[in-house]
Parts: sequence; structure tokens; C-alpha cells
Amino acid sequence: MSERTVTESLSWLPDGANQDLPSWARIYDYLLDGGHNFAADRQVAERFVAALPGSRHIARLNRAFLRRAVLFMISAGIRQFLDIGSGIPTVGNVHEIAQKADPWSHVVYVDVEPVAIAHSKAMLEGNECVTAVQVDLNYPDSVLAHPGTRRLMNFDEPLGLLMVGVLHFVPEENDPGGLLSRYRDALASGSYLALSHFTADIRAAEMAAMVEVMKRTKDPIYPRTRTRFTELFDGFDLVEPGVVSTALWRPDSQDDIADRPERDQILAGVGRKP
Ligand SMILES: C[S@@+](CC[C@H](N)C(=O)[O-])C[C@H]1O[C@@H](n2cnc3c(N)ncnc32)[C@H](O)[C@@H]1O
Repeated sequence: MSERTVTESLSWLPDGANQDLPSWARIYDYLLDGGHNFAADRQVAERFVAALPGSRHIARLNRAFLRRAVLFMISAGIRQFLDIGSGIPTVGNVHEIAQKADPWSHVVYVDVEPVAIAHSKAMLEGNECVTAVQVDLNYPDSVLAHPGTRRLMNFDEPLGLLMVGVLHFVPEENDPGGLLSRYRDALASGSYLALSHFTADIRAAEMAAMVEVMKRTKDPIYPRTRTRFTELFDGFDLVEPGVVSTALWRPDSQDDIADRPERDQILAGVGRKP
């Protein structure tokens, strides 16, 4: 069955999912040419692209950064990943990358969006080393103490904490730095953190227009400056090349680094807990 067919048959729509209320997980899925999105999501996505030209390219570069960050962590010996804000399964999911390297790699997907969790669960059936849990990252204790997390993550050993393309949904009043410190404190020495995040340091006018579009959804976006983003790695040692745009974090092809203005709209970095 094609992805598109799946969308058109609504029998899979999980409890708690409202197809008339646009969701970022489904907008992102649409930007990546996925099929798990509805008319309301597509309308907002088109306004998003109009406000921020190149959004599809930005989404692909972000996804490519996620893949390279996971591969980097694997090369550093990491075999368990806590992927928070994991999204709707699409090309290059973390467990596919990790289990290709080592079939016994463990992955816990965490997302607040019911459609993302329902599809993750459907795809993970029979895969005992991976699970998906529906929890809001603003509640670190709920994420860390969830039975699914406890079953598959060994917090005595280093793990890879992935919060890729998600912290820009956390407003300042929720204290993203404080939230990250709660996650950091749960990690063993030698663990890694990968983050990516919208910035308005460049193309400020376009970003302001995009923020306006998202303000009218349940997932407003809060871009941060490079300085503020870098502070989120407090307690981690940034690995080379430090904080750069997604495209410039250890690119492995010319496509990654193509010099287009939207290339620099999402900042990325990977840190290691000493
Ligand atoms: C852009 S997607 C990123 C997907 C994937 N990490 C990637 O980079 O390709 C962001 C995801 O974060 C999720 N999200 C937003 N706020 C969240 C929260 N408070 N707790 C957990 N997940 C959240 C959204 O539902 C969405 O699926």
C-alpha cells in the first residue's frame, strides 16, 4: 500500500488525532513528501513555504543532519538512542540507521503527536529493540521514567540523546536550558546530544513571516540566536565543527553543502557529556 493510500484511508487515525487541527509533525511529513498529512496540514505547509522559501530543502537538510549525527554516534560506539521529537516515520529513521550498523541497537522514539506514535508503532511491530512512546518533552521525568524508556535504555551506559528539530517548539517560559539539564543529568558520561534548531539570525523577515504562520497553529515556533542555541549544550563538550548550519555539520556530499540562502536557517551541533 502506498503512503498516499494510507493517508486517504482514515481507519488508522488514532484516538486524540484531529485531522482538522494542523500539526507540525504532519506539516514536516508533507514538506518531506510523505503521505501522513491532511488538507489542513497541507494548507499551513503551503503558507509556510510561501513565507519561508526553500522550506522543503531546509527540511531535507535537517533530516540529513539527523542521519549523519546518528552515524557519528555509532562510530563513537553508541548503540542506544533516545530520539525525542522523533516525528512521523519517513525515509531514514533512526532505528533503520542504527540497526543497519548493529541489529541489537536500541531506540526509543518519543513524540507528543498521536499520528507520529501510531505510525511508529505500526512500523515497529515485531522489533523488540525499538519502541515509541507518546510523551511531552516538557516533562523530562515522564519521558525518562516511562516504562518503554526504562525497558530499552540503560542509563548506566552512554546513549545518544537526539532532539533534532524540536526545541524550537519550546518557549522561553518553559526554560529549554533547564529542561535539557534534567535530561543531561540522567545520562552516563560519554553520552552524546544532537540538537538542531531554527534561527532568525539570517533572513529575519522571512522567519518572522513563518513564525506568524505557525502562531495560528497548535505548534508555534520560537527561533533562537546562535548564542542562545549554543548555550543549550551547557554541560556537553561540542564536537567538531561546533555549532554550524545543518548543511555544514560534517557534510558528506555536495548536495549537503549547496550554497543557497536557506541552507543556514537551522543550526545544528553535537556535544559529548564528559
Ligand atoms: C520537525 S519534527 C522532527 C522530526 C525528526 N526529529 C527530524 O528531525 O527529522 C518535530 C517533531 O517534534 C514533535 N514535538 C513538538 N513538540 C513536542 C513536545 N513538546 N514533546 C515531544 N515532541 C514534540 C512534533 O510532533 C514533531 O513530530
